[in-house]
Formats: sequence, C-alpha cells, structure tokens
Amino acid sequence: MEVVRVQTVASKSKDASIPAMFVRSETEQPGITTVHGVKLEVPIIDFSNPDEDKLAREVSEASKEWGMFQIVNHEIPSHLISKLQGVGKEFFELPQEEKEVYAKVEESESLEGYGSKLQKEVNGKKGWVDHLFHFIWPPSSINYRFWPKNPPSYREVNEEYSKQLCGVADKLWKSLSIGLGLEGQELKEYAGGDDLIHLLKINYYPPCPCPDLVLGVPQHTDMSYITILVPNEVQGLQAFRDGHWYDVKYVPNSLVIHIGDQMEILSNGKYKAVLHRTTVKEKETRMSWPVFIEPKEEHAVGPHPKLVNEENPPKYKTKKYKDYKYCKLNKIPQ
Ligand code: SIN
Ligand code: FE2
Repeated sequence: MEVVRVQTVASKSKDASIPAMFVRSETEQPGITTVHGVKLEVPIIDFSNPDEDKLAREVSEASKEWGMFQIVNHEIPSHLISKLQGVGKEFFELPQEEKEVYAKVEESESLEGYGSKLQKEVNGKKGWVDHLFHFIWPPSSINYRFWPKNPPSYREVNEEYSKQLCGVADKLWKSLSIGLGLEGQELKEYAGGDDLIHLLKINYYPPCPCPDLVLGVPQHTDMSYITILVPNEVQGLQAFRDGHWYDVKYVPNSLVIHIGDQMEILSNGKYKAVLHRTTVKEKETRMSWPVFIEPKEEHAVGPHPKLVNEENPPKYKTKKYKDYKYCKLNKIPQ
C-alpha cells in the first residue's frame, strides 16, 4: 500500500482546504485552545555556570515546577547546530522517492526510519508532520541503513552532534541527580548508565493553509527520561500550564529540555513530565530535532531506591521499558 506523506498533501493544498483527517475537534484546535498574545517564558538556564550546586538547583527547580526548560551557553557550537539543521532540511527536500528508500519497515517493531505517524490516534486524526527516526548513540546501537546517504555530509555531521550531545546529557544527569540529594553519578547509573540510548527524531512540519485547525504533534508527554531538542526558528512548540496552552518562547541557540515519563518515574514523581504539543504555520516550514534519552528495552525503570522509604512509598510500578512503551502506545493504563 502506498503511504501518503504530509509533505505531499501539503504541496497539493494550495487553497484553504485540507483533508478532514487533519482537522482537529474544537477541543484541540489550536486557534481556539491557545492563549494568544502571551509567550510562556520557561526557565532559561545558563549551562556555563561554574557553580555546580547552583546549576543543580536551577535544573531541579525547573524540572519540578515546569518539566521543561531551555539551556543557553551549552558547549555545542552554533555552527554545528546549523549544520545539523542544514543536512536534515536537505534530506526532507529530496524528491519523495529518494526519501522513501528510508521508509520505516511496516511490519518491524522498530521505530527507525522515515514515516508519517507514530501511532494511530484514538480519534483517527493525523498530525501535520513527517519524521525520520534513527539511533545516534551508543555507536553499537546505530543502524546506518536509516541514516540518509544524501546529503553526503549527513553522517559526519550527525556523528559529531551525537558525540557533543553526550557532554550536555551527562551534565544534565549530574544536575538532576544532585538536585534529588544523590551523588552526581547515582541517577544515571540506576537509569541504565552506559547502556542508555539516544534516539534522534527529525520532525518536518510543512506549511499548512489552515494552521488554526490542525496540530503538528498532538498533546503528549515524552516516554524518554530526558529529551534534548533543537528547533528551527519557526514558532510552534506549546506547553500546557495552569490548565491552558501557551506558545513556548523561541530562544535562539538554546536547547529545549523536556522531562519525560521515565524521569518522572525514576524521581518518584519529584520531576514532572511536561505535557506539550506543536502547531504549524501557513507559510513557513517548521522543523525540530529532539533526541530522546532512553533505557534499553529490557531495562526495568522504577523509582530510585534512595528516594523511597516509609514516608515516601513508590508512586509508580517498576516495569521494563518495552512494557511501558507497549502500554502507552496502545493506551493501556500503566
Ligand atoms: C515533539 O514533542 O515531538 C516535537 C516538539 C517540537 O517539534 O518542538
Ligand atoms: Fe514530545
């Protein structure tokens, strides 16, 4: 069966009509459900701060209160981020048949590959977005079959970015650990240590003639421990705060951090997974590059033993990551 990509639908939707399967119900339409005229200023954290305890306090405060923050003055050079964005954009601008070479294998359990949707939504609606998923770390997890060969520098740029991102991830793990009163290494060790996996997704949101009626990615919390995301300059990320949806302010050269479900579980509910979604634009293409930091499938995730005692009983079951994912993707209560 031929799969229709959103990019193809978008290129044919020059007038104001789009297929009904993209049109959200009124409870979801961003035109109606967004608080307009205000941008949410999520905490901005200076990652070059040499005071480790202060950095840990800021990171843990933001993770408890918001589940989302942006880091600035991180060590990833802006020219590397521009290259990452450049090669990803070039891939999505290739002729459709060249992209289909990387299409996700329909029967496969793996998420890897080029595709148009992660899961069937309950209401049968589709997000206005195409994506590419592939593992980037550790090197043993990489399947180059899903890494674009074109543009030719795709591999080199993504390998360099993956390496540099490990430094940012380690600093986050350390701050999150200290912020819970643990030693610097303890949280990451229990989370999976060197077995942790980094999965890159590229989201490609083409222009849409009716941006008020559709969503890019519908509301969700990430399943990962932590997500580290690079957006392009086009506004689109929204977060749910105090019962309402707000645009999250775009901060140039920052990395957006989401606390995901596994971190909420690991911290026994101290850190909160952030509920978010994305909107699209009428004239511009939005793109984003989230990297999901996850345990291996077989790794059992539960509250860190040092955070649980008689006064603080475990709030979550300990379960294998693959079982958690299965329940979440099939909407089975955890
Ligand atoms: C996502 O949450 O999957 C995408 C976020 C974004 O595009 O900014
Ligand atoms: Fe997300």
